[in-house]
Amino acid sequence: MYPLKRNRRLRTNEAIRSLVRENNITPNDFLVPLFVVEGMGVKEEIPSMPNYYRYSLDLLYMEIKALWAMGLKSVLLFVKVPDKLKDNQGTEALNAEGLMQRAIKTVKDACPEMLVMTDVALDPYSSYGHDGIVEEGIILNDETAEVLAEMAVSHAEAGANFVAPSDMMDGRIGAIREALEDEGYTDTGIMSYAAKYASAFYGPFRDALDSAPGFGDKKTYQMDYANRFEALRETEMDIDEGADIVMVKPGMPYLDIVREVKNEFDVPVAVYQVSGEYAMIKAAAEKGWLNHDQTMLESTMAFKRAGADIIASYFAKDVVKLLS
Ligand code: PBG
Repeated sequence: MYPLKRNRRLRTNEAIRSLVRENNITPNDFLVPLFVVEGMGVKEEIPSMPNYYRYSLDLLYMEIKALWAMGLKSVLLFVKVPDKLKDNQGTEALNAEGLMQRAIKTVKDACPEMLVMTDVALDPYSSYGHDGIVEEGIILNDETAEVLAEMAVSHAEAGANFVAPSDMMDGRIGAIREALEDEGYTDTGIMSYAAKYASAFYGPFRDALDSAPGFGDKKTYQMDYANRFEALRETEMDIDEGADIVMVKPGMPYLDIVREVKNEFDVPVAVYQVSGEYAMIKAAAEKGWLNHDQTMLESTMAFKRAGADIIASYFAKDVVKLLS
């Protein structure tokens, strides 16, 4: 007795597989993280992120044109701040002529329609490498939220379309929303890192920005990776405070959280395939242990399947190249 129902009929060849495929990847899915440094003509490869670079503003300009030509229409900016400009208050973050503010303008000069999102957190500016102001070994919450709100306004002033607070202080989304409203930036959006875990997968990113914490870890503000319900509480709070888009981070080890957040809330959900996830695939591929392109595509599709509307990934360009 053979089965009348045969699921394999829908897998017979690529034509039928593509006809019944539940998810697809397009350039519209991606948010491209970019690392920016001071200087001219600088394109430095990040040692723990092969084929990923820090750009000075002149080359950022070129990169933006290249991304737009490929159909990549959104970027997420991070800056590497010189040590001498770092302090405990993140003073440089508010400099209207700071690297982030100039980077935003550079992107808009290169391509006015490119959507610019900016990282809002103190760690690249902090002499302690923490996401907030430090007092006697404690990361201060409310004082930090105030600075983040000013930072968000400064980014909006420079032309950012969205600010992306990645710090995990309580109440910062509300503080940022109010500050933006007060200054008339009613159209500036907020993509909150709503469920951001204290993760070892951020290692290569901290190399890229030279932003590793100088003491301790980030466990008093980023989430404990043992927790699931907490991610929903965090997300709900950020939406209530005014987040337009919520993000789950890291990506691949947290697909359960992506699905949970997608099922629970009706705002767009972003996921961040972080630096360590990128590094793992690169390293295994370099050793010949994994097929680079296939694992890259599979990981990307996994985000779509889990329910992500937006994927921030260092693979964005490679994926789009492969698909075209
Ligand atoms: C800092 C920030 C981090 C990342 C994005 N924003 C690192 C951290 O929290 O220590 C990680 C991104 C990545 O690993 O790719 N606020």
